[in-house]
Amino acid sequence: MSLSRLYTTPISSSITSNNPLRSSTKITSCPSVHLSNRTHYISCEHNKQTSKEASDVTYNVLDRRNVLLGSGGLYGATGTAIGAPLSPPDSTKCHKATDSDADPKEGDCCPPDYGKAKMVDFTPPSPNEPLRVRKAAHRYNSDDIVKFEAAIAKMKALPANHPWNYYQQANIHFTYCNGAFDQLNTKSLLQIHESWFFLPWHRYYIYFWEKILGKLIGDDTFSIPFWNWDNPKGMYIPRMYLNSKSHLFDETRNRDHYKSVLDYKYSWGDPNPTDTNAVVTANLAELDSIFKETLQFPALFMGKALRAGENQTPAPGRCESLHNVMHMWGGPPTPPYWNMGNFRTASRDTLFFGHHGNVDRMWDIYSTFRGQKVEFRDPDWLDSSFIFYDENEQLVKCKVKDCLTPESLRYSYSPEPLPWKNIRRRYKKLRSAAKKRSEGDSLKLTPVFGYGSEPLTLTEPLRALVQRPKISRSKDEKADAVEVLVIDGINVLSGSTARFDVYVTKPLEGLVGPDNGELAGSFVRIPNAHQKLSAGKDSSLELGISTLLEEIEAESSDELVVSLIPRNGDIVIGGVRIELFKVDDDEI
Ligand code: C2O
Repeated sequence: MSLSRLYTTPISSSITSNNPLRSSTKITSCPSVHLSNRTHYISCEHNKQTSKEASDVTYNVLDRRNVLLGSGGLYGATGTAIGAPLSPPDSTKCHKATDSDADPKEGDCCPPDYGKAKMVDFTPPSPNEPLRVRKAAHRYNSDDIVKFEAAIAKMKALPANHPWNYYQQANIHFTYCNGAFDQLNTKSLLQIHESWFFLPWHRYYIYFWEKILGKLIGDDTFSIPFWNWDNPKGMYIPRMYLNSKSHLFDETRNRDHYKSVLDYKYSWGDPNPTDTNAVVTANLAELDSIFKETLQFPALFMGKALRAGENQTPAPGRCESLHNVMHMWGGPPTPPYWNMGNFRTASRDTLFFGHHGNVDRMWDIYSTFRGQKVEFRDPDWLDSSFIFYDENEQLVKCKVKDCLTPESLRYSYSPEPLPWKNIRRRYKKLRSAAKKRSEGDSLKLTPVFGYGSEPLTLTEPLRALVQRPKISRSKDEKADAVEVLVIDGINVLSGSTARFDVYVTKPLEGLVGPDNGELAGSFVRIPNAHQKLSAGKDSSLELGISTLLEEIEAESSDELVVSLIPRNGDIVIGGVRIELFKVDDDEI
């Protein structure tokens, strides 16, 4: 049985009733079926929908587990369960990994003795172990810095083939990010980026790095810093990483960024921002939007499902897309973008671990906002596992379900203010001041048309009028389903790097002014060998827009103007549409 066939076949029932989101089913055929762990309802008539009455809205429902696993699972030719938790790779079969931007393009990165080492299950630390509190890097005092540097120095001084050696530790990222393993018993390469494994894998990765450093200096309370880039004070590369005599220094970083405020809208080669206040405010507003638009639907924050045996359709969440910007910012602006700007080499730079400390902290904040409700209750996520060398040089198999909170791994984040939580007023003021300045222009209205059915090349800003599945949704309806802008068939022709930004505004009777409106999110890709890993599959980008629509007062518009602004790379876009994603009944 062809897997891809199975995954696109419209095995679906759809629902039509007064309450379209919960009721009895009737079979219809529908072109777009999305599989999800949860019962997942999607408007299938998105482009053709004319009536916006609740009773006319049609939704798909497909419970993948009933379809795929209800009868004990489906199996591929090799006997591996398809649509099952990801197993650790066969450690004896590590092979070369790929770097599409480097010359030579392949590299050896297999951890030492993986083939011979015996693997045991990871046991989470006892709750009696001391809690290691990670502090913001910009708050590090000289004692903190000296201790951190001493630990890194020891790691660098280990024999080159020691699994704890600094560069061996860095290689672990290369193996898991650029396809040094096949998934167990399959030909699919293993890649943990651009999927729901992004956050848990990196949580474990930096956890072991921290534990090993602590062991090297004999301090079991040792913690690593986090680059607090969600706070204006932390929106600079923290000073301790910029001392050229320090073990924390990396000379490959982009020198232009040593003193500049970080710009979340950065794309390779952009000049430094000049208006610090405006950039800080826009950064904070973006963070605020990321949290608000994703809270009800974790895949929008964390990335979409990836299951054993699947060739991945790259689909990162907003947390990961934003995180790619800091990789771009840290690395040099030219190929192969080593170190920070390329997943092959990113973790050779200690700044990587500060960056991922904050990425991990974002996940912690996200879970806290959600009342610690587990993001995906799907065993295909929870029971998936990875392998690492632990602080006893033991190869351990770590399950996603054992790392759902920092506390379960006995660390925490020292509290810092979350200034993005109340940035809206300031941001709106700035926006309206900017609008005023261009008031004359806003009179120049131009017509805007639908996207059409053919893929389009994004060589210049592309604007399309997009139908909404339903207008004027009530509070309850919004609690039941999130409105999502879906951009799919994204194909990066020019290689491995790309960026485009997505803006939304409302049309004035089919016309639109020069202002693109509000940022809904961005597609940001840095080199990671995805072309090979995803077997040429196109990517998709899903951006929640429920809050954005309230802010631009567009809840009653039946159409929106979506603008795609190219920033880097030659990109083809398959289509743009708006769908309603049903929130899990047990969700908030
Ligand atoms: Cu595995 Cu920041 O990347």
